[in-house]
Amino acid sequence: MTTATLTFTRVQPDDEAAIRTWFDLRQEVQDHDLPDEPAIGWALHAGMLRHPWPGSENQAYLVHRDGALVGWLGLGLPLTENTGTATVDVQVAPVYRQQGIGRAMLSEAIRQARSLGRDRLVLEVTGAAGEAFAAAYGGRRALADTQRRLHLTTELDAQLDDLLADAVAHADGYTLLHWTGATPDEHLSGVAALESRMTTDAPMDDLQWDQEVFDADRMRARDAVMLARLNRAYTTAVRHDASGEVVGTTMLTVADGVDDAAGQWQTIVAPAHRGHRLGMLLKIANLRFLQQHEPAVTRVDTWNADSNAPMLRVNVAMGFRPVRQWAEWELTL
Ligand SMILES: CC(C)(COP(=O)(O)OP(=O)(O)OC[C@H]1O[C@@H](n2cnc3c(N)ncnc32)[C@H](O)[C@@H]1OP(=O)(O)O)[C@@H](O)C(=O)NCCC(=O)NCCS
Repeated sequence: MTTATLTFTRVQPDDEAAIRTWFDLRQEVQDHDLPDEPAIGWALHAGMLRHPWPGSENQAYLVHRDGALVGWLGLGLPLTENTGTATVDVQVAPVYRQQGIGRAMLSEAIRQARSLGRDRLVLEVTGAAGEAFAAAYGGRRALADTQRRLHLTTELDAQLDDLLADAVAHADGYTLLHWTGATPDEHLSGVAALESRMTTDAPMDDLQWDQEVFDADRMRARDAVMLARLNRAYTTAVRHDASGEVVGTTMLTVADGVDDAAGQWQTIVAPAHRGHRLGMLLKIANLRFLQQHEPAVTRVDTWNADSNAPMLRVNVAMGFRPVRQWAEWELTL
């Protein structure tokens, strides 16, 4: 497809060379805009097209002008819930910025999204250019979140020991469970029920987002994608001894080839079990678990809605410090 001056070429999952070109451009943009970020990781990158999350499809386009690669456009298409929404990535190579290319790419994304029956776009932005760009299209800033980072130092160890001891003292009647990789069969339905709460219980502010409902099969499929993308996952869960139920989980992952950095995925405690310091217990215990297996990790990144007071209380106490502000912008088509 072609706009007035730009050519959009869809990247196919089996086109190794095109995926590589896209990877190099993504890394170049990241090195320019966010030089303190961990490397992107090839398997994770290629997996976006080759192994989409269950119930979703991703599309990526290389964008050329007069034969030069000037940017890439990504579309995320939820297929189970949120079927009226497309998530959009617009990235312009640094040397081609402020020439109207981003604007033309977003127009193309809007055209594509409409043709796929979507009436809402969600853009994740950081920094002045991204915010101004989304605002210029009459977008609505729907959710503000902050990226925070924990540097793993020996001083931190002592501080976390104290917090862990305090959490353990408040969590009588619960037992910790740990696993690497996929969720063990016996915990699939319990973990799926908790995962289904991630899109209702974590604040979304003004972002319109349907609940993503997980059952054991979808959980198994999610884990299979994670493994296919060579993401190494470390999960800690908490079992309520009286009922035998899994009532909380948290997960950290390390991307293949990016051994120094871990990313925080979901942390959730079932409502009836909140207020027992289980969030703190889970997160510190899981960090320790990760460190046993991943001695090269020096930092952990997490993203939280600014309105998520309970999670922030835990993270700030642990020593996570702000790296940058992000926002989700919503565009109604
Ligand atoms: C945001 C980004 C896509 C803009 O691309 P671009 O090709 O430079 O954008 P355009 O030239 O089409 O500008 C479109 C509008 O965005 C806004 N804008 C873009 N860059 C800006 C900047 N540095 N400062 C202020 N406003 C800016 C302006 O409103 C501009 O309209 P104007 O030129 O009429 O004032 C680009 O900076 C980029 O790739 N950033 C990294 C990824 C990102 O943040 N993507 C957006 C979210 S998906």
